[in-house]
Amino acid sequence: MVVATVDADGRPDARSVLLSEYSAEGFFFHTDSRSRKVADLESNPHAAFAIAWPAELRQLSVQGVVERASVAEERFAYARRSRYLQLLAWINSPEFALLPSAERERAWAEFDAEHPEGTLTTPPTWLGFMMRPTRLTFWEGSRSTASRRTEHRLTDEGNWAKEILPG
Ligand SMILES: Cc1cc2nc3c(=O)[nH]c(=O)nc-3n(C[C@H](O)[C@H](O)[C@H](O)COP(=O)(O)O)c2cc1C
Repeated sequence: MVVATVDADGRPDARSVLLSEYSAEGFFFHTDSRSRKVADLESNPHAAFAIAWPAELRQLSVQGVVERASVAEERFAYARRSRYLQLLAWINSPEFALLPSAERERAWAEFDAEHPEGTLTTPPTWLGFMMRPTRLTFWEGSRSTASRRTEHRLTDEGNWAKEILPG
């Protein structure tokens, strides 16, 4: 999904992240504590994301408020990541990015060999976030008629209001 955040000066930014999981409460994603999105969310927890499935003519756009996931959830999500992504979460640092290519491959192979599968736990930079939705917009395309959206908006009273909108 593409997650949009806003920095302390009100400037927007967007980037792709994996939707790690979702629950009745919200949508989870995981990232590095040194990333720009984390600084943005610390100063402004309001965020949005969009996922498009062009082949299915579907899109989900969500606006909401982001909070830190629990430590248990962070561990659970890390354990479910692929081996490559588990290694990446440990190795991906500003210093590593500056190494020449051959050095990066050598250091990666060394770290991989030193940490057999099943031995890695969450690195200290691994953070999980949950976006609690305040608005969900389901866009449906069509090959034979106009697209349209079904929107669910959280009201001030804490209920969900549904509205059908043009696509
Ligand atoms: C398909 C795809 C999936 C990605 N998934 C993640 C992810 O789950 N977590 C993450 O931190 N970065 C992920 N990235 C990298 C981010 O897009 C981004 O470059 C990085 O998190 C730094 O973003 P920031 O400095 O704007 O916070 C992914 C990139 C792509 C293209």
